[in-house]
Amino acid sequence: MTTALITGSTAGIGAAFARRLAADGHDLVLVARDTKRLHEQATELHDRHGIEAEVLTADLATDDGIETVTARLGDRKNPVDLLINNAGFGNKGRYLDVSMADELKMLKVHCEAVLRLTSAAATSMRARGRGGVVNVASVAAFVPRGTYGASKAWVVQFTQGAAKDLAGTGVRLMALCPGFVRTEFHERAGMGTDNIPGWLWLDADKLVAAALEDLARGRSLSIPDPRYKALMGVVKVMPRALLGGISSKTGRKYGPR
Ligand SMILES: NC(=O)c1ccc[n+]([C@@H]2O[C@H](COP(=O)([O-])OP(=O)(O)OC[C@H]3O[C@@H](n4cnc5c(N)ncnc54)[C@H](OP(=O)(O)O)[C@@H]3O)[C@@H](O)[C@H]2O)c1
Repeated sequence: MTTALITGSTAGIGAAFARRLAADGHDLVLVARDTKRLHEQATELHDRHGIEAEVLTADLATDDGIETVTARLGDRKNPVDLLINNAGFGNKGRYLDVSMADELKMLKVHCEAVLRLTSAAATSMRARGRGGVVNVASVAAFVPRGTYGASKAWVVQFTQGAAKDLAGTGVRLMALCPGFVRTEFHERAGMGTDNIPGWLWLDADKLVAAALEDLARGRSLSIPDPRYKALMGVVKVMPRALLGGISSKTGRKYGPR
């Protein structure tokens, strides 16, 4: 039996990872801030799939929260075989609309927590000669899109670099770059989604299935949908100024507050 630790497991993409990994027979360590929701999720997954689901309440925007999770990842008696660094959020508005405190919180959750959790997991995985880490980034990593895009670009660069450094150790690292996925993300950020065309939306369960296939194939970067693979091909050859104009207008509109 293997164990997977998922941050941000209670909603959206993290919950899809939890459902799929539980169905595949993995024990789980579920991480988020809402303890009641975590326990409900653990009970449901245990009852449905007969797996053990541990609950870890942690706010990854704080040092205490990050340390709680790194301690669990370093527990050699109960090793974690697969880490999904998924917790994340959006801030509504463009640059200078967002408070400095919220910008820094994003860097803490998207970058510092990902660095510290990946390092804790990879250290014990390398000692055991096996393991995997999926760091959830975004296709926003490839377009000019404020602190969100910059933080996800860091996730992609960091993960692909670390994957190269750990090649041959049995530890696989992969950056996952979803496009728009219907989750709680946009509502939590107070962002309207009316101007996002229907064909751009992805299903979280299909996204996770494709991501796990890419991890099994040993890829260090996963862009799981043909629509987004094609779009990212166009993005590579598009002038940055034009790209920045389109990107800054898409999906960042204020919703009702
Ligand atoms: N949805 C999209 O269109 C999309 C596209 C590309 C990439 N992504 C990325 O995918 C990841 C998951 O997003 P999602 O769409 O699934 O979001 P979501 O539905 O809003 O779920 C976010 C999850 O993260 C947890 N979380 C948030 N802040 C946290 C913190 N400070 N500490 C610990 N846990 C925290 C939440 O639980 P609690 O509130 O209980 O902590 C929840 O379980 C994010 O990294 C996001 O950037 C999303």
